[in-house]
Amino acid sequence: MAPGLISEQIRIDNSAPMFLYESRDSEMVQTNSAGGDEVHNPSLERSSQKPGHQANALTPPLSPTERNEMNDLVCIGFGPAGLGIAVALNDMYGSDTTGNAGSETTIRQRVRFLEKQSNFSWHPGMLLPGAKMQISFIKDLATLRDPRSYFTFLNYLKEEQRLVQFTNLSTFLPSRLEFERYMRWAANHFESSVDYSEEVTSVRPIRYVTGQKYDRLEIESRNCRTGHTSKRISKNVVIAVGGYQSRPAIFQKHNHRILHTSEYLTKIVAVVGSGQSAAEVFNDLHTRYPNASTRLIMRDTALRPSDDSPFVNEVFDPSAVDTFYHADRHQRDEAIKKNRATNYSVVRLPLLEHIYESMYTQSIEEPDRSKWQHQILPSRDVVGVSEEGADQKISLALRRLDSGDGKNEENASFDAVILATGYKRDQHIAMLEACQEINSSKDGSWTPNRDYSLGLDRSMVEADVGIWLQGANESSHGLADSLLSIIATRSGELVQSIFGNGKR
Ligand SMILES: Cc1cc2nc3c(=O)[nH]c(=O)nc-3n(C[C@H](O)[C@H](O)[C@H](O)COP(=O)(O)OP(=O)(O)OC[C@H]3O[C@@H](n4cnc5c(N)ncnc54)[C@H](O)[C@@H]3O)c2cc1C
Ligand SMILES: NC(=O)c1ccc[n+]([C@@H]2O[C@H](COP(=O)([O-])OP(=O)(O)OC[C@H]3O[C@@H](n4cnc5c(N)ncnc54)[C@H](OP(=O)(O)O)[C@@H]3O)[C@@H](O)[C@H]2O)c1
Repeated sequence: MAPGLISEQIRIDNSAPMFLYESRDSEMVQTNSAGGDEVHNPSLERSSQKPGHQANALTPPLSPTERNEMNDLVCIGFGPAGLGIAVALNDMYGSDTTGNAGSETTIRQRVRFLEKQSNFSWHPGMLLPGAKMQISFIKDLATLRDPRSYFTFLNYLKEEQRLVQFTNLSTFLPSRLEFERYMRWAANHFESSVDYSEEVTSVRPIRYVTGQKYDRLEIESRNCRTGHTSKRISKNVVIAVGGYQSRPAIFQKHNHRILHTSEYLTKIVAVVGSGQSAAEVFNDLHTRYPNASTRLIMRDTALRPSDDSPFVNEVFDPSAVDTFYHADRHQRDEAIKKNRATNYSVVRLPLLEHIYESMYTQSIEEPDRSKWQHQILPSRDVVGVSEEGADQKISLALRRLDSGDGKNEENASFDAVILATGYKRDQHIAMLEACQEINSSKDGSWTPNRDYSLGLDRSMVEADVGIWLQGANESSHGLADSLLSIIATRSGELVQSIFGNGKR
């Protein structure tokens, strides 16, 4: 939707109430290449209509930010975590599920979401045909917090007229494709509150009103299409930027044929890693490029199944966050270690079994596995990378980890290498460099409180200014932090923490 004064009405169906979006200008200083200042910030307004049942979703509470007005909240990143906040704001400050206006509906939330992608998209490089969700659809954007929310997966199915057909699948695990469509559908409802193609580069505290304590945060972003930089001002910031590709140091040098799974494209041969991404890409190659030879190179001795068993799975319950948070450091480390196999370097059993069967099928015709078209090479660490020959093949030096002295090396050449080497979650550190002055932590680390707010030095910052962090708190809030499992509940907690009890 173009910025500016735009209003839009969408009738959902005869029984459903109506959305009323209205965009107005608000505070956002955009420095364009000509050096001029532009101001725009389309936003969203609550409907003046009295909603009926299910209407808690249909009266978006995100008020337009007036020109020269502050944002109450800027959320950096509009992935599932950011979207979860939009949904929670909508549910909690819209109306209650009986259609009665909630007590806090008069609060106007001036909220912007800044997202570097050009539209809502959930790990687009990995939307592989046949890939399934790893969690039940009950852990969608809303159900665990409010099953009567408009934004449940089931209501999405209803809206798309696939509820009955989906039921016939007898599954709790939709395809990733369908879940992505669901989140995209939800995201579309907040279109006018999101600035896409905006990559945030820094957050800094500023003295805006009083000139004494810091009383606002300035968020600087770069437009990915135009290169223009913009600054927005807000009392509160949520950082929900997810992970970025973890490239082992040995692969740092740019080479367009060494890809990370997040940018999985076309020509492939070797896949490095033994987690879910590695297994999915390895398996996908066989369907997509039936004539290609593939190798799965991993340090572990075997592909291992993810632990989805019900007792262990309680580690992803919203209530587990409290227990984890209040444990001491040793207990937390132990808990992460013990439950690591729920998430990291593991593969869902059906896929693992499918790959095993593919390997087995090759053995029927060719007993010598070193001659197989598709091979798994376990117990190997990549210790060298080079380009060789006129065709610029990529040569990997592989150290055998099962050779006793660990000195046994072998070389193998590939047309392309896919790094399924996982993700890092520390972008907030660089982003908040200019905020170190207000960090309450003496050692410079950012430590989230239970409500996900970062500790700020209140002698320097006004009480109504805050920064919240999502998705990078595994060591303090537990393994579910980087996942979808608790997004509905956590988003509610966060909204309560920022706006609850008449705070804003
Ligand atoms: C292929 C794949 C499949 C997965 N499947 C599951 C699953 O089935 N179940 C599960 O629980 N978890 C799954 N996960 C884990 C995943 O972390 C979560 O699903 C989910 O993506 C977390 O949401 P998020 O919003 O925290 O992070 P992200 O989805 O990474 O979203 C962060 C957003 O922030 C944006 N962003 C980043 N930096 C900036 C910046 N500087 N400025 C502005 N915007 C920025 C990004 O473009 C992105 O849109 C999967 C992960 C992968 C890689
Ligand atoms: N369909 C889905 O729902 C789906 C699909 C893909 C991913 N995901 C999710 O995405 C998240 C990340 O999964 P992921 O598979 O991308 O990452 P991951 O589980 O973190 O696995 C990373 C893999 O890379 C290997 N590795 C890391 N550094 C290496 C190095 N220097 N040299 C060689 N190998 C190295 C690790 O090996 P070691 O074990 O030896 O350290 C591990 O096997 C998980 O939450 C997962 O569930 C979900």
